[in-house]
Amino acid sequence: MLELVIDGQAVRAEEGATILGVARDAGIYIPTLCHHDALSPSGACRLCIVEIYPQGSKLPSMTTACNFPVKEEMEVRTSSQKVLEARRLRARVLLAKGPESRAIQEIAAELGVETTPFTLETDKTCIRCSLCVRVCREAIGADALKLITRSEGAEPHVEVSPNNCIGCGSCSLLCPTGFIKMEEAGGQRIIWDTAFEMKRCSHCSSYTTSEAHWKYIEEKTGTSSEFGTVRDMCPVCRRDAVSAELLDLPEHFTTSLFTSDFD
Ligand code: SF4
Ligand code: FES
Repeated sequence: MLELVIDGQAVRAEEGATILGVARDAGIYIPTLCHHDALSPSGACRLCIVEIYPQGSKLPSMTTACNFPVKEEMEVRTSSQKVLEARRLRARVLLAKGPESRAIQEIAAELGVETTPFTLETDKTCIRCSLCVRVCREAIGADALKLITRSEGAEPHVEVSPNNCIGCGSCSLLCPTGFIKMEEAGGQRIIWDTAFEMKRCSHCSSYTTSEAHWKYIEEKTGTSSEFGTVRDMCPVCRRDAVSAELLDLPEHFTTSLFTSDFD
């Protein structure tokens, strides 16, 4: 275990833990935009910036809390004037890049930033946070998205590989700016300019996800979903069905859940 100080509070932390994780465990709030607990950190938005004083040093430096590992006897300041100014500057830049983004507006407002003096003519909504790329690669495993650097081409900042995209929609759901559009109508999901047929829950018949995503899960897990089984249901019906089993509800109830009579 390591010992360090965050905002004057002595804390203990596991080796390899990040400043963000340790601060959160200690009840100290640090704003984040590109961080997701289930994904590797990227350090892209720089809203989680903090001031650090390495062991025995009086010379501070600034770093992003989400991807910086804590060190023995380090001192961290999460809300000094310098830190707040740096975050406000980042918030102004992000507001210029994604003025319509609710997520950016909310974080900016938290920091007391309502407007931005910057005008950016380039991409107005993708802030290159890479959440979409990371969720596609690390959580889904499809690896269908790639961040395009300026040297590779100015716009767009994220490119899809149509052969790899399974239309799961995770990128769109995580994107904080709305850059990745997803629409669902008439049994189809349209994302990245591609229409994916959608699959219905075998119990309630609501649409769940794309057929391609469903097939992908079956291949990855080596399972197949027979019509009317728990595996063939939407998350809500599946939860209800499993709960009913676990709670040992009367047979007629579980039977009605495990079989389907919709047309
Ligand atoms: S498309 Fe959205 S999630 Fe992907 S990098 Fe841009 S802002 Fe982030
Ligand atoms: S949350 Fe740390 S850089 Fe975005």
